Amino acid sequence: MADRLSALKPTAINAILAEVREAQAQGKDLVSLMRGEPDLKTPQHIIEACTRALANGRTTYPDNRGEKPFREAVAAKLERDNQLRYDPATEILATTGATLGIYAALMALIQEGDEVLLPDPVYDAYQSPVRLAGGRIRSVPTRIVNGRFALRADDLEYAWSSSARVLILNTPWNPVGTVLTREELTGIAAFCERRDVALITDEIYEAIVYEGHTHVSPLAVSPGLRERSVLVNSLSKTYAMTGWRAGYCAGPAPVIQAIYLILAQSSRGPSMFVQDAAGEALAGPQECVAEMREEYTRRREQVLSRLDGIPGVTMLQPEGGFFAMADVRGLHLPSNEIRRKLMLDHGVVVVHGAAYGPGGEGTLRVSFASGGETLARGLDRLREGLGRLAEG
Ligand SMILES: Cc1ncc(COP(=O)(O)O)c(C=O)c1O
Repeated sequence: MADRLSALKPTAINAILAEVREAQAQGKDLVSLMRGEPDLKTPQHIIEACTRALANGRTTYPDNRGEKPFREAVAAKLERDNQLRYDPATEILATTGATLGIYAALMALIQEGDEVLLPDPVYDAYQSPVRLAGGRIRSVPTRIVNGRFALRADDLEYAWSSSARVLILNTPWNPVGTVLTREELTGIAAFCERRDVALITDEIYEAIVYEGHTHVSPLAVSPGLRERSVLVNSLSKTYAMTGWRAGYCAGPAPVIQAIYLILAQSSRGPSMFVQDAAGEALAGPQECVAEMREEYTRRREQVLSRLDGIPGVTMLQPEGGFFAMADVRGLHLPSNEIRRKLMLDHGVVVVHGAAYGPGGEGTLRVSFASGGETLARGLDRLREGLGRLAEG
């Protein structure tokens, strides 16, 4: 086996899933509020576009950059929703989900030993591709300020070293639920330009924002930033299309060409019929996105009201995404211990904040990507479990 495998770490979710399977094999009844997988169905008009494409024989090798109509739909979407202009011929690529976009961008941008700045806490699946690409992680500690995790340019400046080449930013920010403001992004953009740091901006939760919070692409705040950035996105969350593996990257032509060379070695793009459906999703009616957002808004309220008033527990108000962070520092126990007790003694599975980095210690991530009975039962168990731990 290759030495590079030692760079890989299972994601937090996969490590917890192994524990879940073991507990279930011993007969435990568990409710999971753990995963970031929407339980909503892919809208019908998108499915119909796919079956139409299949019936029309769209089953051969796709254009390795992505089918032209899909790239054009991405360009139109970026202009409509993000006020960003990219040339579909040279500045956009189709990828097999955001996962491959992030991997290929890192492979194209960093050299052996380069450092990649990652806010802490962070979506933990960024770490292994950084290491696979030969990079080193430089964490940017963040903390809760006024009830939300904040990332300031000062935090980046403090963490910066002369080996830092890339910053990965995710807004809305998984796991913490922060939507970075235009003001915060302006400071972050100035940092990147000042320190000659390239930006990979992962905007996969852009459509899921609450209560007057607006998603702003970091690239929309500073023209200079666009020239040193790769935007990564996918249809997984916005259109409940996780299993379709449809995503895209946009960036300056030379960078996109470099990413294309990497992609050509690892994937020949999502299937044509998937790209046709994805193009329909981006270009077709958008009411389904608003309906999903309304559903997540109701679930968010349900989570916040059900977990309100537990001694030692404060809920952070999610500004975007479908995760709520519970600040459990008042329980005076490590977050992983709280998670294990909730699973084994109370039958509910959440993710401990420390799984996303030391900055997440003292928190739990509660997912409301699943609703209905699952959410209601999970919240009942969580309320009872946290209440017991508070008494203890
Ligand atoms: C922040 C973030 N980026 C990327 C992904 C992966 O996206 P995709 O399904 O498009 O590969 C996820 C999935 O949970 C995520 O939370």
